[in-house]
Amino acid sequence: MRLLRLELRNFRNYRHLDHDLGGHLNLFLGANGQGKTNLLESIALLALSASPRARRETELLGPLAAEARVLGRVESEGRIREIRIDLREEAGRGRKRIEVDGVNRRAVDLPGLARAVLFWPEDLNLVKAGPEHRRRFLNQMLVQVEPGHARLISRYARVLEQRNHLLKQIAAGETGIETLAAWDEELVAVGSQIASSRRAAVAELAPLAGRHHQAIAAGEELAIGYLGPPDDFAGGVQKSRSLDVRRGVTGVGPHRDDLLLELGGRDARAYASQGQQRTLVVSLKLAEADLVAARTGEPPILLLDDVLSELDAERRGALLERVASAGQVVVTSAEAAPLPLELMHEARVNCIRAGALEPCG
Ligand SMILES: Nc1ncnc2c1ncn2[C@@H]1O[C@H](COP(=O)(O)OP(=O)(O)O)[C@@H](O)[C@H]1O
Ligand SMILES: [Mg+2]
Repeated sequence: MRLLRLELRNFRNYRHLDHDLGGHLNLFLGANGQGKTNLLESIALLALSASPRARRETELLGPLAAEARVLGRVESEGRIREIRIDLREEAGRGRKRIEVDGVNRRAVDLPGLARAVLFWPEDLNLVKAGPEHRRRFLNQMLVQVEPGHARLISRYARVLEQRNHLLKQIAAGETGIETLAAWDEELVAVGSQIASSRRAAVAELAPLAGRHHQAIAAGEELAIGYLGPPDDFAGGVQKSRSLDVRRGVTGVGPHRDDLLLELGGRDARAYASQGQQRTLVVSLKLAEADLVAARTGEPPILLLDDVLSELDAERRGALLERVASAGQVVVTSAEAAPLPLELMHEARVNCIRAGALEPCG
């Protein structure tokens, strides 16, 4: 999997970028606020069809117009495709139009064409942050390796919204509790599919992450488990009904999932030190890249946003080993030379200033 070319028009602080990437190591240097994360965000957008950081899509529009474009030419299994995402603002809302080789595609059908693993500073909080961050980690991985998973997630979100809406109507006495039946059934049907994908992925991820972790952390044992809906999911939903009505939200289902992370048998979410969290996250990200490569036969594009300078020698070494060996990597850094000399020589180096690329020096 390779991104051959990236074109940005009025995307965040990029007015106009046309850039051909190298097949191995691409390094973008720049001071804070110049557009390093924006650049990787645009690549992640091509992979996921949604920005991993924008709360509203209109945030992505630059200052020139109410329209923006991200275009990527990607090569996978010897085939080249052009992915084009046009964003525009309409009545205050962000609208998106996606084309692959000139053919219209729905956002839920895009992920999987340009597979990328993003590792950015926020991820360093993955262990201690709320469970939604760990669910997002699973989602972003799964939509890229399982056709139809993005569709499932979007369908589940709709079911959940409708069910929650109904719960409030029931609480207000506008309708009876029996109207929940159809939604409960749908919740369990769609939710079970998500849960079984997650369960299988975590089982696959666990030994991969464990191995990376042992290598970086001198043998310290990492265990990962999937904390999903109860075995009797349907019964759980049924039992939770009256509580759900009182609270106005659905209490059982994969929207409540979490990842169990244990270091040496202790819950890392509660106990891990700063350093242990970092090692764990590096291991998780490397395992994610392994899983994507194993499932698809190609290493994903590795996007490393300003993380190298935040890691100590050992963790950096583990990441760089992967960087040196597999696939295409896009690294950003505020530091002039974040890579060892031999990798600096191999890298295509560009400098970013105020949303434009310029020769370094
Ligand atoms: N929609 C936008 N239009 C124009 N500029 C933007 C937009 N969104 C963010 N920016 C600018 O982008 C810059 C931050 O870019 P970022 O990629 O996060 O920087 P860094 O190089 O530190 O990673 C800031 O100067 C911010 O003002
Ligand atoms: Mg940044």
